[in-house]
Amino acid sequence: MSDVTAVNPETVSAAVEEALAAIDAANTIADLKSVRSRHLGDGSPIVQLNQAIGSLPKESKAEAGKLVGQARGRLNKAYAEREAAIADAEKEATLLAETVDVTEASFAWRPGARHPLSLLQDQVCDIFVGMGWEIAEGPEVENEWFNFDALNFDADHPARAMQDTFFVDPPSDHLVLRTHTSPVQVRSMLERDVPIYVLCPGRVYRTDELDSTHTPVFHQFEGLAVDEGLTMADLKGTLEHFARIMFGDEARIRLRPAFFPFTEPSAELDVWFADKKGGPGWIEWGGCGVVNPNVLRSGGIDPEKYSGFAFGMGVDRTLMFRNGVTDMHDIVEGDVRFSQQLGVSL
Ligand code: DAH
Repeated sequence: MSDVTAVNPETVSAAVEEALAAIDAANTIADLKSVRSRHLGDGSPIVQLNQAIGSLPKESKAEAGKLVGQARGRLNKAYAEREAAIADAEKEATLLAETVDVTEASFAWRPGARHPLSLLQDQVCDIFVGMGWEIAEGPEVENEWFNFDALNFDADHPARAMQDTFFVDPPSDHLVLRTHTSPVQVRSMLERDVPIYVLCPGRVYRTDELDSTHTPVFHQFEGLAVDEGLTMADLKGTLEHFARIMFGDEARIRLRPAFFPFTEPSAELDVWFADKKGGPGWIEWGGCGVVNPNVLRSGGIDPEKYSGFAFGMGVDRTLMFRNGVTDMHDIVEGDVRFSQQLGVSL
């Protein structure tokens, strides 16, 4: 660098050129700041030239002052322009980086849909709540006593083998995955006062392989009424009313004699209804009967004073024949299109 204290057009021009080159080379605001301290700040050539004016002979001061003043003006202007240009470029880069292509194809979240089984179960609950019944629930891991013994299944009664049971380890705990919702009958009797009118929906388990008509986890709803003077006629009237709301005014039911340990007499319940295609004809829908006195006793209820009726149906099975579902896989797979197809979009 030349002798900066000699204030003349050459030294001033050299300082200016050097500073301008540095300003020009700066690409970021941070670069520019260090250029400022080196070329425009205290101790920089141009500031030293400015200070040197003070010690010049009087007659040279005006000329030198003008020279340095113009130089400083030029540098400040160049600095300000470069600063604005860098700020603009940075803003431009940010805008570019944050550009949103509004024409780009987007991923659309498809709305979910409630599962037809839940809706059917809710519908059944609503029908019974509408008749003044209450909803009752019990555990899915159930005591063997509630699942079998309290329901009058003999220890070695063949009926116990009618159902393929998942037993829970260790066997000494006598726990099973409930094979039906009937144990909720006894729980309800023990927990509530007569009169009892309860509908018990829920998941049940049996050791079946998944195929087009079976699944190891399925759903049932159980009905139980205990009151003074209830008979098979009350059962039939209740089921008839229920069937008409579920399947339309023309629906009919029929009872066929059957055996269940927890009801006496017991019946198989068939339903007939018409749909757009004319209906599926008589369909086996569930089991029912007059509550066996032994079951009332298990529930702490005096069979001399009270009587009851009960029924139990499969939710999955009901969905299948009501909606023409032919493959159980469609029910268990959880494909939202299955739910949407049955008109249950939220
Ligand atoms: N628990 C029986 C089953 O899972 C169904 C059933 C039959 C329930 C008769 C009842 C009944 O309440 O009275 O196969």
